[in-house]
Amino acid sequence: MEIKTVGVIGCGLMGSGIAEIAARRGYNVIVREVNDDLLKKGLERVQSSMARGVEKGKLSAADRDAALARIKGTTAWKDLEPADLVVEAAIENLELKKNIFKELDAVTRPEAILASNTSSLAVTEMASVTRRPDKVLGLHFFNPVPVMPLLEIVRTFLTSEETYRVARAWGEGLGKTVVVSKDAPGFIVNALLIPYVLDAVRMYESGFASKEDIDTAIKLGLNHPMGPLTLLDFVGLDTTLFIADEMFKETKDPRFAAPTLLRRMVTAGYLGRKSGQGFYDYT
Ligand code: CAA
Repeated sequence: MEIKTVGVIGCGLMGSGIAEIAARRGYNVIVREVNDDLLKKGLERVQSSMARGVEKGKLSAADRDAALARIKGTTAWKDLEPADLVVEAAIENLELKKNIFKELDAVTRPEAILASNTSSLAVTEMASVTRRPDKVLGLHFFNPVPVMPLLEIVRTFLTSEETYRVARAWGEGLGKTVVVSKDAPGFIVNALLIPYVLDAVRMYESGFASKEDIDTAIKLGLNHPMGPLTLLDFVGLDTTLFIADEMFKETKDPRFAAPTLLRRMVTAGYLGRKSGQGFYDYT
């Protein structure tokens, strides 16, 4: 099966990035948002990211224009009909995602592959509401999508070899390096990342070290691009808390139990960069 047209569900941080890289690699992209306002904001995000790409010399102005022309925004499910592959990148809510998969199962051709960009929810749950569970898998991209070289593929018990092979070839064609995980909580990256960032919050919460020193230690001592608290602000404290809670719910493993400080910060609206305030001030 050849992928020519890619559907993307949601044009937030992840969806806009996925739409951007697919269009840049020559795919026709149909991106769906729930309303015109969110669609407009999402498409503006794609435009400004591509403008940054041009500024940084990663693509020419002509390639940017051609890529933008390949992206069609919509709020209608029926417009997804021509898609050969759809990547769902809606908010992390299992019931919502199951409804999306039901809709996609109804509107796309039976041979289309349906993927989720979920970072923590069970892909098998989404596959189970479709009539094509063998054509469902996880395609987990990393933020910022145009920059981060990894794609984590999540294979469930039900994903067929053919679906995996086609999706893998597509991901590699986007220039990503692929790793493969079972449909286990957190997959590879978050199973390791979440205990690490939660430990950093506990360290700060207990007065062990200042936030600046925790970040500087990891940045300079381990050569990470960002320390753990800066990374938490970047990913979003609410997103991280959600992932941790999901993983804890499924495993009851204390490594995934969120510290009180993180929970209180989220309740207080300290969500990181996106709200202007997290461990650091971005206002
Ligand atoms: N298109 C193409 N290339 C772009 C671009 C765009 N829109 N924007 C930036 N770039 C390129 C730049 O040209 C630069 O490339 P070179 O190295 O070849 O010069 C590179 O990307 C880095 O960009 P910047 O110089 O602007 O930024 P930076 O050096 O300050 O790095 C960062 C920013 C990439 C975000 C870096 O700080 C980083 O890697 N941080 C960690 C990010 C991370 O860990 N992400 C994963 C989060 S976890 C997740 O996403 C999943 C989950 O489930 C929670």
